[in-house]
This record gives sequence, C-alpha cells and structure tokens, in this order.
Amino acid sequence: MNRIIFTVLLIFVATITYAQELRSPNNQLVMSFSLGGNGIPTYQLSYKGKTVIKPSSLGLELKNDSKSLLDDFTISSTQTSSHESFWEPVWGEVKKIRNHYNELAITLNQKETNRQLIIRFRLFDDGLGFRYEFPLQSKLAYFIIKEERTQFAMTGDHTAFWIAGDYDTQEYDYTTSRLSEIRKLSKSAVTPNASQTPFSPTGVQTALMMKTDDGLYINLHEAALINYSCMHLNLDDTNMILQSWLTPDATGDKGNIQAPTQSPWRTIMVSDDARTILASAMTYNLNEPCKIEDTSWIKPMKYMGVWWEMITGKSSWSYTNDLPSVQLGITDYTTVKPNGTHGATTANVKRYIDFAAEHGFDGLLVEGWNIGWEDWFGNEKDYVFDFLTPYPDFNLPEVRDYARQKGVKMVMHHETSGSTRNYERHLDKAFQFMKDNYYDAVKTGYVGPILPKGYYHYDQWTVNHYQYVLEKAAEYKIMINAHEAVRPTGIARTYPNLIGNESARGTEFQAFGGSKPNHVTILPFTRLIGGPMDYTPGVFEMDISKLNPNNDSHCNSTLANQLALYVTMYSPLQMAADLPENYSRFLDAFQFIKDVAVDWDDSKYLEAEPGQYITVARKAKGKKEWYIGNVNGETPRTSTVSFDFLERDKTYIATIYADAPTAHYKSNPQAYTIRKVVVTNKSKLSQRSAAGGGFAISIVEADKTQVKGLKKL
Ligand code: NOJ
Ligand code: CA
Repeated sequence: MNRIIFTVLLIFVATITYAQELRSPNNQLVMSFSLGGNGIPTYQLSYKGKTVIKPSSLGLELKNDSKSLLDDFTISSTQTSSHESFWEPVWGEVKKIRNHYNELAITLNQKETNRQLIIRFRLFDDGLGFRYEFPLQSKLAYFIIKEERTQFAMTGDHTAFWIAGDYDTQEYDYTTSRLSEIRKLSKSAVTPNASQTPFSPTGVQTALMMKTDDGLYINLHEAALINYSCMHLNLDDTNMILQSWLTPDATGDKGNIQAPTQSPWRTIMVSDDARTILASAMTYNLNEPCKIEDTSWIKPMKYMGVWWEMITGKSSWSYTNDLPSVQLGITDYTTVKPNGTHGATTANVKRYIDFAAEHGFDGLLVEGWNIGWEDWFGNEKDYVFDFLTPYPDFNLPEVRDYARQKGVKMVMHHETSGSTRNYERHLDKAFQFMKDNYYDAVKTGYVGPILPKGYYHYDQWTVNHYQYVLEKAAEYKIMINAHEAVRPTGIARTYPNLIGNESARGTEFQAFGGSKPNHVTILPFTRLIGGPMDYTPGVFEMDISKLNPNNDSHCNSTLANQLALYVTMYSPLQMAADLPENYSRFLDAFQFIKDVAVDWDDSKYLEAEPGQYITVARKAKGKKEWYIGNVNGETPRTSTVSFDFLERDKTYIATIYADAPTAHYKSNPQAYTIRKVVVTNKSKLSQRSAAGGGFAISIVEADKTQVKGLKKL
C-alpha cells in the first residue's frame, strides 16, 4: 500500500477556556469547540461562512453512576495535527483514496470525578468526524451507557430523506418531508404489520440526508461501528435538534464499555453540491486500514441466483410442507413428503449454472439448499439450521463438480433466522464445509427477531456478532454478504471481505408490493454512505404475476433503470436477479449486464439530486472502458452528459440503452431503445429518462474499422 504521511503535532498543556477552532484543509469548514456553562462540551460547524450545526452539546449519560460524562469538565490539553495519505482499496469506486484532514483532540477532565474523556475531531474538506475516547484510567475502567447525548442542532426545518427509527429493520421506503413533519408521518412510513420496534415518533435512522432551503446538503451517519451499539437520531422538533439515541440491548442498556476504548465516529458531511456527498470517502477514511494481509482471494463478482423465483413465490425455499425439524433430531428428509415446489433441486440449479456459464457470470447463489426452512418462519426456535445438510433433492457434490467444470463459483447461503448463537455454534464447521466444497463467498441473513430473545439487530451484542462472523470468515478466506445485518459504517476498509450488505430495502420489495420509483435516487445518499449494497438489480419482468399468478406486485422501474443500477448502486458484488427465461427474452438489453464492470479505477458523479436523479460515469478497473448509469425519479427529465472524462484524441463506441419515448415505470416499463454511436471527449449527449426510468451506456475504445458506418453523437 502506497502511503505518504505528513503529520504536524502541536500540543498545548494548559487550562484553556476559550473556543478551539479547527479548519478543514481547504478552509471552507470551520469547527469550533468550547465548554459551555457548567463545563458542558459544545461544538458548532460552519461551511463557507454559513452555520451548518448550531452550538450542540456532547457527552454520555451513564447508568448506575453518581456522575455522568455530561458536564463539569475542564480542558486539560489540546492537540492539533494535519494528515495526508493515500491508500488503495482492495475494491472500490476509485483506485486511490486520499485521506486528508486536520485534527483536534481535546482532553477533558471532569472536576468532581477526576475522569478523563478525549473528544477527537477530524475535519475533512467534505465533512466532520468526531468520537469519544475513553483512555485507560482507574476512575473509569468499566461503565454502562444509559444514553449517548450527542447533539446535532440544525439551523432550520430542513427537507429530510428519512426512514423511521427501528431497532430491527431498515427495509423501508424513504419519506421526503420537512423535519417538522416526521412526527406526523412516521406511523405511516413503516410497513404495516412489520415487526417494528419503534422508540419515538420522531426517531429516524442514519445515514440521514438533508437539504437546507439555501441549498446545503447535510448527511449524518457514523463510521467504524465496532463494539458499540448502532446510533439512531431522535428529533426535538421544537428546536430542530437531532440527538443520538443508541439501540438498547435485552436489558435496556445501551453499551457495556471497558476503557481504553472509543465510540464510533459521528459524521457530518456537508456541501453545496450533492455530488460531493456521493463522492466522499470520509466514512472509509475514518476506519482503520486493512487488517487482512493477503487480500488476493477477495474478488468482486457478478452473480446469478436461484433466488428471485422464491422471492416472487414461484417456488419455495423449503422442500416439504410438513414440519420435520433439526431441533427434534429429524434430519432424514427422505422420509417426508416433498411439496413439489422446491427451487433448489439439482436439475434446476444445473439449469442456472448452464445459463450463468454461457453468459460469463462469476457465481451462482443457491438458497433453500439446506434443511430447516419449513420450521423457522415466525417461530422463535434456537436450533433450526445446521448449515451443513442439503435437502435430498439437492445433490451438493454433483452440483459442486458441475459448477467447477463450467467455471461458475457456487455462492453459499446461510439464513440464520436471527439465531445468532446457533450460527456461532456452527460457524467453524459451516465455514470449513464451504472451503471443502469450494465455496468462497456466503450470503448471510438475519430474518426474524434476534435470539437470544430481547436482543435487537442493531444493539452492541449483535453488532459484535456480525463482526465476529466477518473476522472469522477472513480466517477462512471467505467473503461475506450480510443481509438484515447492521447498516455498514465503512468497516469494509478494514475487512474488505465484507463485499456486500443489504441493510436497506432491496429489490426483493418489488415483489412484496413494490418500492417507490425514486427509491434508488435516495439510497446512494443514505444507505450507501457506509458501504456497498447487495441491491440485487436486473429485474426484466416487472409484472410479478407473470412469475407467480398469486403475486400481483409490480416492479416500479423501467428496464433501462434496472440496467443503470449496476453503475449507480456501487457494489463489488452485483447480482442479475431475474430468471434465465426472462433474460432470454431481452438478450440485447442483457448484454449491458454481461458487459458492465464490478470494480473501478475512477468514478465521476455527473449529476445528482436526492430523490430526483443520479448520473455517474465509472472507468472499469484496469481497462479502457467506461460505463454510465442514470436513474430518475417520478418526473421525466433530460440529462446533459459531457464525455470530457474520456481520453483526448481517442475514438469510442457508446452503446446507449435508454427508455423509449413511451416508457413509464408502471404502464410501459419494458419499452427501451438501444443505439450505438461514436463519441470522443468532446461529445455531448442529451438523453431523456422516463418516470422511474434511466439510461445505461457502455463506452469502449474503437479503431477506424470498428466505427465504420456508425453515426457520431
Ligand atoms: C431476506 C433476504 O433479504 C433475502 O434475500 C433472502 O432470500 C431471504 N431473507 C431468505 O433468507
Ligand atoms: Ca432483506
């Protein structure tokens, strides 16, 4: 890893009472820290002279402790430094990332208790990160957090792109509203009958995206969530102050802390250009460098799956409708009656392998391959899955050998049914079983309430479980794609074997009633701030009843929009979600999915407005190919794309997959056009996208003979 580090250290040891100022490297952001009345730590932030965060207090309320870490502080020392380094991610949107910030660390002393607390601020050109550090000390060895009291005081009633607070799911459509409207809208913003565990009518999840009336884009999230509970935000809607609200564990505690340690970073990105938020690497930069020495086995991949047919209800994960159970010691499924709809049969899986191999896919996910599926849904049982035993109609060795011979990697599936203890008990055997059978990647899942009972998907205990699985997987050289796990916070920098996460409302909801057509114009501003999403795009048949007559869902997206997602929803792991038979009907459009890269040297955000549109161009890693994606919300819109990112004096062929003039996500989603044109770095394109539509472009360098007969753009 190529590293240039430049550090200047200045240490003041004194009792300082005046405000401490920290400026971003480009001087546009200014953070100032001071102790308010009664010694309360207070910070504020401005951008280009405009206030972004009004004076906001910092601290933690402790449980069973005579004194919390909230006030009575004096500054015992401050330390400033500057840092600039460059690092190369194992996979990513760009080849090289610059980590450039100015830092201020304030050591506080609590007078009454003589306890020490450090608040460390890092100010980048695109935002602020800060965290609490608890140094080793006899007066604060071990403590329990009752609540973290970090404030983010807004300057007004901003427009927010939010999902309601919930300790167990993030799989919601986003609501766009004023902050002041959250209270009124939060009930209807959650899925009816969802197992929501709400805590406040004004509670929201991070990353929270906002826009001020004078055009500032503000994003609140966290980085490096390790051994701590996941942060929600609760809004005081009288004063427009957002305050941290940690996820409690089964006992109601919000953190068991043992010094020396630190909190995750609290992050505030800010810009007057929405594209800067999408291009920011701040969340990764606030995480530790890669801890895996040999990363050669971590490989981005495009995969298909025996999956969409189960999600749509065309086939089933389970083999039988009877209830044999691993827990009851019944593992011999040859004696039970099959239901006749099982998806993961040897023959069906081989059909997918053939298709995946023919079209050059790297991998194939197979869900419902292992026993236990008929027994867990809605049940709170601890021992359901063993992650080792295939159903009798899935011949694992036969499938394994067939896939190897065809050059397709099998992708493992471990649905844990939320039973984290059961998974941990089986983990070593399950991972060894994967290695023995040449599986290098696993999709994990945590559907249902967490077991042990009372724990939540986002509390400290369960956050530690996901981390344990990730680190254990690294020992086995296994890549993880975790569904229903905690939202990512840039940990993939440290453990790049975390190649995917769901942790938001993915494509599956298009088969569960549909998602808002502008959903994919918001996700990159919210969920993707912390890392890539296994969004599972590529649905070509939007009328789900064509797959399952009993499912009247509609995928609220045009086909061209589905193609664009491979570029706009950055991920080193991309699925082609639909069935082979649906791709076979549209092989000309399918070509884009086959061609598009999954790893990049460079990314240029060309246009962006949360809730409305995103256009991005990316250069394929190690190749002279570019791909452009545009996704559009409800209102039809025309993009202007300049190709000035291309190399000068070179000629390229651009294949443009676009919405046909009559396309519409609901009434005419499969209307697309494909055209090939010659482009150079001087070309400009004016391209219309339909409601819920978009366009995708592949650009390859070409010589004179190849461009013959093609029109110039
Ligand atoms: C929910 C996941 O998001 C989905 O992808 C998976 O197929 C099911 N759980 C079953 O594990
Ligand atoms: Ca899910």
